Amino acid sequence: MKRLTHPLAPEGAADYADPTFSADLIAWQQQHGRHTLPWQNTRDAYLVWLSEIMLQQTQVSAVLGYYARFLARFPTLRSLAEAPVEDVMAQWSGLGYYTRARNLHKCAQRVVAEYGGVFPSDPALLAELPGIGRSTAAAIAAFSGGARAAIMDGNVKRVFARVFGIAAYPGEKQVEQAMWLRAEALLPEQGIESYTQGLMDMGATLCTRSSPDCGRCPMQPRCVAFATGRTKELPVRKPKKATPEKHATMLVIIDRGQVLLEQRPATGIWGGLLSLPELDGHTLAEDDDIPPADQAALLAAVHVFGQMESHERLMTVTHVFTHYKLHIAPLLVTLAKRAPFAADGRHVWLDASRVADAALPAPVKKLLLELLGDSAAAQARMF
Ligand code: ADE
Repeated sequence: MKRLTHPLAPEGAADYADPTFSADLIAWQQQHGRHTLPWQNTRDAYLVWLSEIMLQQTQVSAVLGYYARFLARFPTLRSLAEAPVEDVMAQWSGLGYYTRARNLHKCAQRVVAEYGGVFPSDPALLAELPGIGRSTAAAIAAFSGGARAAIMDGNVKRVFARVFGIAAYPGEKQVEQAMWLRAEALLPEQGIESYTQGLMDMGATLCTRSSPDCGRCPMQPRCVAFATGRTKELPVRKPKKATPEKHATMLVIIDRGQVLLEQRPATGIWGGLLSLPELDGHTLAEDDDIPPADQAALLAAVHVFGQMESHERLMTVTHVFTHYKLHIAPLLVTLAKRAPFAADGRHVWLDASRVADAALPAPVKKLLLELLGDSAAAQARMF
């Protein structure tokens, strides 16, 4: 049997067809799957629909009590449609994702108004109702009417990623589309209820995210992830966005054993801490000095504090924050003559010996301590 493992490779659903997949899954479900959940063994679309909405993003154990209480309060679709939305919300309280409850109520009213209180059996029509997506529509149509329709939720994506060795992130549109194609191609001719329940049962009880029970899995002989030891890597997790990089040029103005520091604004990164003054609008590459054209800007920036004698580009320091990387390009500046301060209260000359105890951002303190060659004891106080 031809088996394709890349999600983008197939030309059509036929490439995915494999009747042994559903046959094995149905046999397993009938012997080892769940058969006594309160929404099983019925074809009542109201009971099935309610369970499928409650089970969206919510585990069976959390749903059981809510399901029973909800049906005691709203035993029929009509009783739900006619109830005030506040009563529906009250019954849903604690189950989470409350849009589900509002949509549930709207959906009940639409089914009464548009379908005379009888859910349509066509999954495409079900999927047009509030709160019912393509997968939920398929589950309702399969369980309540035996419709041959494919489901695709997080559990099924995990099972497919592992069994078929799909090494691409299933949240990506093209990958998901390929999974839908595969899901449709694999549908059985007979036994859609057991098959659909089997996918759910496998995903929830055997093929779990962190500790799959491959020893009991009916798919083990065909599972690509099992055969290649990749159950931990599959499904592929959401790719991390590249960490944004920011650049700052900092002035290390040192004069007579003191370093010039500036109070940072109260808000934003390092809010309220003392730090080195920054030269705005510069991104200096790795160890480049400030370009000749920008030397005037440097002179002007330093001028407030004194007459510049010399400057030297120090090595870039990179600090990693949770959401970005900051590359600090330090410029060491010495003064020929210190200027009296403008009394803005934001600048201080700090004795080098006090740097270790000052309220400075960690990378700035590290940079200064390395530069000032402070004692090991002073370094130790940093931590
Ligand atoms: N999750 C979603 N639908 C389900 C169902 N019918 N049974 C068990 N878990 C489910």
